Amino acid sequence: MAGLFITFEGPDGAGKTSVLAQLLPLLKQQAQKQIIETREPGGNPISEAIRRIILDPKNTAMDKRTEALLYAAARRQHIVEKIRPVLAADKIVLCDRFVDSSLAYQGSGRQIGISAVAKMNEFATEQLTPDLTLYLDVPSKLGLTRIAAHRQEQNDRLDQEALSFHQKVRQAYLDLAKSHPDRIKIIDATQALTTVIADCQQMIIRTYPAWFK
Ligand SMILES: Nc1ncnc2c1ncn2[C@@H]1O[C@H](COP(=O)(O)OP(=O)(O)O)[C@@H](O)[C@H]1O
Ligand SMILES: [Mg+2]
Repeated sequence: MAGLFITFEGPDGAGKTSVLAQLLPLLKQQAQKQIIETREPGGNPISEAIRRIILDPKNTAMDKRTEALLYAAARRQHIVEKIRPVLAADKIVLCDRFVDSSLAYQGSGRQIGISAVAKMNEFATEQLTPDLTLYLDVPSKLGLTRIAAHRQEQNDRLDQEALSFHQKVRQAYLDLAKSHPDRIKIIDATQALTTVIADCQQMIIRTYPAWFK
């Protein structure tokens, strides 16, 4: 497929959303093509409805494979409604989380197994893989501390997970980065936000010089 597909990954509190918000205007000034920013579940009604089911604190009975399937279903709809059309128009997509999140959270964190979750997601993505993934790495405690400091009211089902869960998620991300060194680049997200943004900007432009001025 044409276009350029860049994803941002990392544990909760790594700074994905903060980085994307400030990086977008910077990259827009330099890009040769239009840039579209998106995030899972993708802002379409079907994916949003699925997301509400996943995060509803009342759904304590949810099986971990059900959860993984629902994430993949929301992802599928997001791909069809937004990501694929934008890439087909030869534009740039910046996406906050994608399949690697499922591999880390459901595959490793919930211990379904990375390869099982990967296989199931292939059905949803039909092999659509990011061209570049920036993995924002922070120690689990720092990520959780940032969330606790800034998101006191929000306490959805996933935020209640223990530190050990987040450590499994981080280790899975690091292992994924090791096994896909060409696609996944590790960004040190413990640095000041402006430095993290500059590192991401530089990594993208250095990897795809033809796409930027
Ligand atoms: N590099 C950073 N240094 C200090 N605080 C940060 C940094 N990046 C993000 N934060 C703060 O941490 C919190 C979580 O950031 P957020 O962008 O929501 O992370 P994510 O989207 O990865 O979960 C926010 O309140 C944000 O202001
Ligand atoms: Mg976020």
